[in-house]
Amino acid sequence: MSDTNSAPGETAAEQDTQQTRRKFLTAATSAVGVAGVVGVAVPFMGSWNPSEKAKAAGAPVKADISKLEPGQMVVVEWRGKPVYVLHRSEAQVADLTKLDGDLKDPASTASDQPAYVAPAGRSIRPELFVAVGLCTHLGCAPKFRPEVGAADLGGDSWLGGFFCPCHGSKFDLAGRVYQGVPASANLIVPPYSFEGDNVLVIGVDAEAA
Ligand code: FES
Repeated sequence: MSDTNSAPGETAAEQDTQQTRRKFLTAATSAVGVAGVVGVAVPFMGSWNPSEKAKAAGAPVKADISKLEPGQMVVVEWRGKPVYVLHRSEAQVADLTKLDGDLKDPASTASDQPAYVAPAGRSIRPELFVAVGLCTHLGCAPKFRPEVGAADLGGDSWLGGFFCPCHGSKFDLAGRVYQGVPASANLIVPPYSFEGDNVLVIGVDAEAA
């Protein structure tokens, strides 16, 4: 059968090559489409920092959070680890109170966070959630999945959160782990504080700042 997309004068070998290329492009486009549905692009935020050597030694890092809109998350590197910085919307903060019955440690009594972090929401400011972006099971990076009702994460019962693709652990938007998944503890909240309204300092305790 003739190929309606082939150019006049193309040899059979050239037509085969063209067909293979078209199939590859179709497959690649489909893959991008799927990834767009299940993933949320989270930018890595630059921070103004001390030298690489000082950072590796544990120096604090600062990040400008003035442009972080409700619902947005960025990742900041601290001590070689990803730190998730999420500006929760009012609705997302309100939803946190609905999940206690589904969580392993809703009050975070057996989880790792600074004492000055309020148990409700596990944060200093209600809207700003800061956590080390490493799963407490075996250390993969959970994906930010804020879509309420995501069909692959429980449908109507999913109010947004983080999903670890390695073994399926799920966390809410306060990093609290769901029941029935391999991870046993909530995401770790690192020491942090603020300089004024718009500068987040990761690695310096609020009490010390
Ligand atoms: S590392 Fe996240 S579920 Fe295993």
